[in-house]
Amino acid sequence: MSLLNALETEAQPQVIASGGLKRRRHVLDLDDFSRQEILEVLESAEGMSEVLHRDIKKVPALRGRVVVTLFYEASTRTRMSFEEAGKILSADVINMSASGSSAEKGESLLNTGLTIQAMGVDTIVIRHPHSGAPYLLAQHLDKVGIINAGDGIHAHPTQALLDLYTVKEKLGRLEGLKVVIVGDVLHSRVARSNIWGFAKMGAQVVLCGPSTLLPLDMLRPSGVPANDEPLASVQVETNLDQALEGADVVMALRLQAERQNGGFLPSMREYIRRWQVTEARLGRSSPDVMIMHPGPMNEGIEISSTLAHGGRSVIERQVTNGVAIRMALLYHLSAGVGA
Ligand code: CP
Repeated sequence: MSLLNALETEAQPQVIASGGLKRRRHVLDLDDFSRQEILEVLESAEGMSEVLHRDIKKVPALRGRVVVTLFYEASTRTRMSFEEAGKILSADVINMSASGSSAEKGESLLNTGLTIQAMGVDTIVIRHPHSGAPYLLAQHLDKVGIINAGDGIHAHPTQALLDLYTVKEKLGRLEGLKVVIVGDVLHSRVARSNIWGFAKMGAQVVLCGPSTLLPLDMLRPSGVPANDEPLASVQVETNLDQALEGADVVMALRLQAERQNGGFLPSMREYIRRWQVTEARLGRSSPDVMIMHPGPMNEGIEISSTLAHGGRSVIERQVTNGVAIRMALLYHLSAGVGA
């Protein structure tokens, strides 16, 4: 049965998925996704995108399922797209913020998770400022699927999947592309998940920024990456012009002021001068280079406004594709949870 038929007929997702995706209960990061599993998610997102672009965006696939978005940090894109994704698939979606919940009275994350599980919820989508928070829930909750919507500086796997999907949609492939990730890599969970995702799919990943904002612990002192496939292919370059040479994809990262205690940069002016991604700096990139940003952007700091809203930018397309990817994940996870 095709995915689109299954979505219309309320067929169990097990019928559609195969391999690892069929058994998957949680999405915590891309380090435990196989290449095949990533491809399967991207392929499913194509079908979901077709539903998303209909006049009437509604299929019965997840009728009777309950999804909770549990956000301990601010979000626009991730939270809204999960809510929209769940609603298009006919799941009941409950949004919960730490603010206004019993977390404010000191309830622990684990007790909050157990409470949500006791209400018969199928999937929890969690964003939390502490790295590892989704893993804690995944270890202790046995009836609920957990999706990591961003934990501390650790991982943001659904963002990476939508980024992979957006590149594949535009350029037709992932293997062999040069993907340059520029900026505050050190504090970026988006970068960490994208490094796994793009490297697994055979892209050449180059990290660029001030050395103080690059995760050099990933690499040996000589600059040779640790012997950890697929990360062994990741390169680090502090000179933006050199990094951009021959780039197919440039992803600018938000300078995360809220995670910096100072001391990382000589000055904002210096950062802008050396690492802001602008039209003028793309001269040595591929003529069709695509410009990405996970959002929210600091326009005029890590990326120029002209580039962010120009013809090479796919930043709004990333947002649209985020809904399709999250539909695919909610759908397939409901099979793993129900199995
Ligand atoms: N990219 C991203 O996670 O955006 P939000 O913080 O708006 O969800």
